[in-house]
Amino acid sequence: MLTASHLGFRYAGNPVLHDVNLRAEPASMLAVTGPNGSGKSTLLHLLAGVEQPAEGTVRRDPGVRVALLPQRTADIDALPLTVAECVRIGRFHPGRWPRRADRNAVTEIMERLEIAHLARRRLRELSGGQRQRTLIAQTFVQEAAVYLLDEPTAALDTDSRRRVHELLTERVRSGAALIVASHDDEETSLADARHHLEQRGPVR
Ligand SMILES: Nc1ncnc2c1ncn2[C@@H]1O[C@H](COP(=O)(O)OP(=O)(O)OP(=O)(O)O)[C@@H](O)[C@H]1O
Ligand SMILES: [Mg+2]
Repeated sequence: MLTASHLGFRYAGNPVLHDVNLRAEPASMLAVTGPNGSGKSTLLHLLAGVEQPAEGTVRRDPGVRVALLPQRTADIDALPLTVAECVRIGRFHPGRWPRRADRNAVTEIMERLEIAHLARRRLRELSGGQRQRTLIAQTFVQEAAVYLLDEPTAALDTDSRRRVHELLTERVRSGAALIVASHDDEETSLADARHHLEQRGPVR
C-alpha cells in the first residue's frame, strides 16, 4: 500500500533519517518509536508526501488514500473554523456535494469522540484535549487505507485515550494500515510491529 525504501532526510544538512525501510501492511499497526528529535514526525511527513526525501523513495500504490494526523497543528487556529466544519473537511471530495453517508459519518465520529456538544465552537476556543479529539475525528472520518498518526493521544485524558485506542483497533480489524508515532507504552503495545528510530548527531 505504502512502502518506504532507503529513506534519508536532512534539515539544512543535519541528518535526521538514514536508510529507513518500512511498509504499511493492511490490517496491521506499526508503532514508530524513538526519543524526542529522532525523526518520527519527519518520517510521517515523508510517508504522507508533505516532505520529499533526500534519499530513497516512498511508493504509494495507485488509489491508496492516506490520512495524516500531524503533531503540530497550531496554525489552523488562525482559521475561523468550528469543530463541526473541521471534522466535515475530512469528508471533502472535490467535485461532489456531501452525501447522507458523509453527514452520518461526521455525526457518528463526533459522538464517539464526545465532541458533538462542541460542534459550533471555534477551534481556538477549545481545551488542548478537546481540540486534539476534533483533529482525531477529522482524521478518522476519512475513509483511508493508510492512517499516519503522530502522537495521537499525547494530550488526552484516560477515558479519551481508551476511546481512541478502541478506534485504532477497529480500523486495523477492518483492514486499514496504521503507522503511529508514540512515546506511550500502552499505545505501542497495541501495535503488531515496531520501528525504532535512533537519535542522529549533526554532520561535522
Ligand atoms: N523545520 C525544521 N527545520 C530544521 N530542523 C528541524 C525541523 N523540524 C524538525 N527539525 C529537527 O529534526 C529532528 C527531528 O525532528 P522530528 O520533529 O521529526 O522529531 P520527533 O521524533 O518527531 O520528536 P518528538 O518526539 O519531539 O515529536 C530534530 O532534531 C529537530 O530539531
Ligand atoms: Mg514528533
